[in-house]
Amino acid sequence: MPLVKVATVEQVPPGSALRVYVEAREVGLYNHGGQLFAIKNLCPHMGDALHKGQVTAQGRVVCPGHAWHFDLATGKCTSGQAEASVRTYPVVVQGEDILLEV
Ligand code: FES
Repeated sequence: MPLVKVATVEQVPPGSALRVYVEAREVGLYNHGGQLFAIKNLCPHMGDALHKGQVTAQGRVVCPGHAWHFDLATGKCTSGQAEASVRTYPVVVQGEDILLEV
């Protein structure tokens, strides 16, 4: 799978999230406890931008729209809508660069 540079490490400090674009895809990039995660940024419910949501201590982002939760590691909805999920992207750090496998 091709790797695409989307950000630098200093752009995503611990506890932050950044919206990035890979071709036409919108992706949320998260630094949760020093670990990087990338998931599709559009909520499958009504399309709100997930990167604007809070991240729980368990590593779940809470959609700012209607509070569905998505696990940053698996993309699965963990708030009762079992069929809903968002795509995840493997994250690779090379030096100061953050790349996604797309
Ligand atoms: S838009 Fe995300 S829960 Fe409704």
